[in-house]
Amino acid sequence: MIAKAELHCHLEGSIAPTLAMKLAERNGLTLPNGLMRADGTYEWRDFLGFLAAYDGVCTALRTPRDFSDVIYSYLEGVAAQGAVYVEMFCSPERPRMLAMPYTAWLEALVDGIDRAERDFGIVGRIIAICIRHLGPDRALSLAKTVVADPHPYVVGFGMGGDEAKFTPADFAPAYRLMHDKGYGCTVHAGEVVGPESVWAALRDLPVTRIGHGVRSSEDPKLLDELARRGTVLEVCPGSNIALGIYPDRAAHPLHRLIEAGVRVTLNSDDPPFFHTTLGAEYDLAGLGDEALRRITRTAIEASFADHETKARLLKGVEP
Ligand code: ADE
Ligand code: ZN
Repeated sequence: MIAKAELHCHLEGSIAPTLAMKLAERNGLTLPNGLMRADGTYEWRDFLGFLAAYDGVCTALRTPRDFSDVIYSYLEGVAAQGAVYVEMFCSPERPRMLAMPYTAWLEALVDGIDRAERDFGIVGRIIAICIRHLGPDRALSLAKTVVADPHPYVVGFGMGGDEAKFTPADFAPAYRLMHDKGYGCTVHAGEVVGPESVWAALRDLPVTRIGHGVRSSEDPKLLDELARRGTVLEVCPGSNIALGIYPDRAAHPLHRLIEAGVRVTLNSDDPPFFHTTLGAEYDLAGLGDEALRRITRTAIEASFADHETKARLLKGVEP
């Protein structure tokens, strides 16, 4: 099996419907009406509907143990698909909404990561993400919370949420703080909004990676710029297709990005929402083994792990 590494998967977006039901039951809660279809899959129609369903799943989470079990469960599943390294997007907005202390939430995630490494040998790290539609003030406040309690597993900073709200420049203060403190930075851009969103991210934020970025394929100058900078795209084809950005894998720009010399990685984003997995993304990419190994190497090189961890992981990618 080809060794895999993942840079773009959202913690709560990794929760399978069965796990959401188990957590809700454990916490004595009922999941929101309309969250799931009769066949037990998540129900949503479009991008904003998906973000609302995502919030719906989050209502199942109440205690630090829940967060620990979610990350452990994801790492267990993805390790079985050949993953050796995962950077999980974890938003400190979630514990804040539950009035859970940041440190209790973080300790729980660290515990889940440690248990998964002990049990399955997989290395997990955390990217703290803010939520774009909640605005720049919340993002800066979140960044201050993260830098006040550093932990070696929290290696980066990012932003998800509604790409149509605000501009990258609005979040520059939060990004500047994180970058100055040594955190690697990434941002969702060029997913539901076109190339101008990626240009703005490159211009106004200290990012070495772009979450998705696939809409860059509509602008040859932008492709040149991404290739020149060596910016890495966290490409999530199954997510893009499920959200209707492309009709199918044949129309997806993954191969065109590679041909343009842009560094790409493969990722699952929110796997049960989009009926995908990291393993499926590798299997369905339409690439040979050597090209897939190159993608894993790119992911490890572009990861925000420390140099020793990267060097150790890179050795394991060779056939
Ligand atoms: N949050 C979780 N998944 C996301 C996505 N695909 N785009 C933006 N924000 C997200
Ligand atoms: Zn995402």
